[in-house]
Amino acid sequence: MKSLRYINKYFIKYKWRFALGILFTIISNYFGVQMPAFFSESIDRFQNQISSNEPVNYLWLALELGGIYMGFSLLKGFFLFLMRQTIIVMSRYIEFDLKKEIYGQYQALDQTFYKQNATGDLMNRISEDVGLVRMYAGPGIMYTINLAVSFILIVGKMISISPSLTLFVLLPLPIMSILIYKVSSTMNKMSLEVQKEQSLLSTLAQESFAGIRIIKAYQREDQTTEKVSQSAERYKKQSMRLVLVNAFFSPTIIFLIGLSSMIAIYYGGLLTFEKKMTVGGIVAFIMYVTNLTWPFASLGWISSIIQRAAASQQRLNEFLLRKPKIKNETDLSCPLDHGLILDKVSFRYPDTEVDVLKNISFSVKKGETLAIIGPTGSGKSTICALLARHFDPDSGHLLIKDIALPKYSLTDYRRQLALVPQDVFLFSDSIANNLKFGVEQENLSEQDLTDACKKAHVLHNIQAFQDGFQTILGERGVNLSGGQKQRISIARALLRNPQLLILDDCLSAVDTETEEIILDELQKDTQNRATIIVSHRISSIRNASKIIVLDNGKIVESGTHEALLTQKGAYFDMYQFQLEQELQVKNT
Ligand SMILES: Nc1ncnc2c1ncn2[C@@H]1O[C@H](COP(=O)(O)OP(=O)(O)O)[C@@H](O)[C@H]1O
Ligand SMILES: [Mg+2]
Repeated sequence: MKSLRYINKYFIKYKWRFALGILFTIISNYFGVQMPAFFSESIDRFQNQISSNEPVNYLWLALELGGIYMGFSLLKGFFLFLMRQTIIVMSRYIEFDLKKEIYGQYQALDQTFYKQNATGDLMNRISEDVGLVRMYAGPGIMYTINLAVSFILIVGKMISISPSLTLFVLLPLPIMSILIYKVSSTMNKMSLEVQKEQSLLSTLAQESFAGIRIIKAYQREDQTTEKVSQSAERYKKQSMRLVLVNAFFSPTIIFLIGLSSMIAIYYGGLLTFEKKMTVGGIVAFIMYVTNLTWPFASLGWISSIIQRAAASQQRLNEFLLRKPKIKNETDLSCPLDHGLILDKVSFRYPDTEVDVLKNISFSVKKGETLAIIGPTGSGKSTICALLARHFDPDSGHLLIKDIALPKYSLTDYRRQLALVPQDVFLFSDSIANNLKFGVEQENLSEQDLTDACKKAHVLHNIQAFQDGFQTILGERGVNLSGGQKQRISIARALLRNPQLLILDDCLSAVDTETEEIILDELQKDTQNRATIIVSHRISSIRNASKIIVLDNGKIVESGTHEALLTQKGAYFDMYQFQLEQELQVKNT
């Protein structure tokens, strides 16, 4: 329950709407309570008229009773409508605010968070969990207030008619409370399981859609379907058990309320014989007890709503109360054009045991191209991730003008940087919008797009599409080849006109000739920026100002291409090996 305190700030935000909702609930219940009271008076008056042998105008009596009863009903209904309009609408606003807050938090959190949480889970929290919390903020709160108000008003009226009968009639209520408490805690446990299974199910489904090509290629459709249907089956079973408990619940409550009615008739009857109560009083009592039925029967439902919401909010709080490790802490603008130095940097990924980078030092300046080469898993992409500040190093520093990177504005630093990652990602949008993604769009002309695409050697591909730059990519559009995607990603990075350009093995799906064309193009304006190229092909980094050879997280050699060849070390071996392979390819 404590977890739900988190959304109190929203109740404060919407306090006037909330207060109005409570007022409407009270007014609506006031009219609801007037109806039986009015009925009871009319019956007594009617009985008196009969016993005193006065002539009775039945038609008039019926019209009077019906008319006033209808009037009260309409008033009660009207305020019930207003109650829903204020409180339920408030809960929709809260839902909207909460979703916005969570989405904002998703955007703020760093890579570590995304490594630890499955996409399906993230999706579930922003839809399912927020939905359940809304059920608390809306119907849950509304019916609780309604129950409290109607209980106070109705019991007040009952006591004013007959305190002793009230006591008898309310006797089954404590039994009911205990029952409700027991059942709802069982339901809480069950619904937690249901929620967990649901998360698992959506993660499974999501992953199988994302990996559909692999599933088909390895002919695992049946196994995947089996896995999903097993999870769905578990979800169904658990939900059914929950429904079963729920189904027993309401009839039991209604039975107990029926018991109250019987008591009202029996003891009320006795009291009437003793002339301590009127017939109208009994009728009023029965009506009051019936009016209490729904609010009380809904108690179990309310408590399960609140408990499910508490469980959901607890899951949300795990995210919401988490502080991103890497965030904008200062406004100090970042002079990246002065170059960047890595000073004895070591790094290990969160929740892992070994250092992935050990004591890495190098520098890169404007006008320079630094190349990083090394076998898979040697830590090249990790260096790129540190350069993009997806993570900060555990020891050592990234320095600009002798000041550690975290001292500068993160926004300003990232603004001057462009990263082309190893696994390219394009959005399901037009090519133009993908290209413009990293830039303030107004500042870009069609010419800029053309220039960048020409440099990335992808313009001719784009022009071959019927819709050119407006071609839609992704699920509902054109599927590009790996190489085309990589080249569009490079153009996207170039459009940012960065001070530091990082190319993480992003030409792996491009053939050697095209790679050379692109690198030549990039070479033309390297004077305006610092470039870091990660590659496994020696041919593509030959012209770099400096080459770093990485192995198992350590720099094993560094220098220019010529210097490294004369060293006859790891680089030289790699060179020999790649030359031989090239020759073999040419000969076949
Ligand atoms: N997110 C991660 N969490 C834990 N370990 C990782 C993560 N990413 C990479 N690694 C590990 O770090 C090492 C270096 O990986 P990486 O930098 O991707 O190498 P490269 O780009 O040179 O192929 C590998 O051993 C890899 O398993
Ligand atoms: Mg890599």
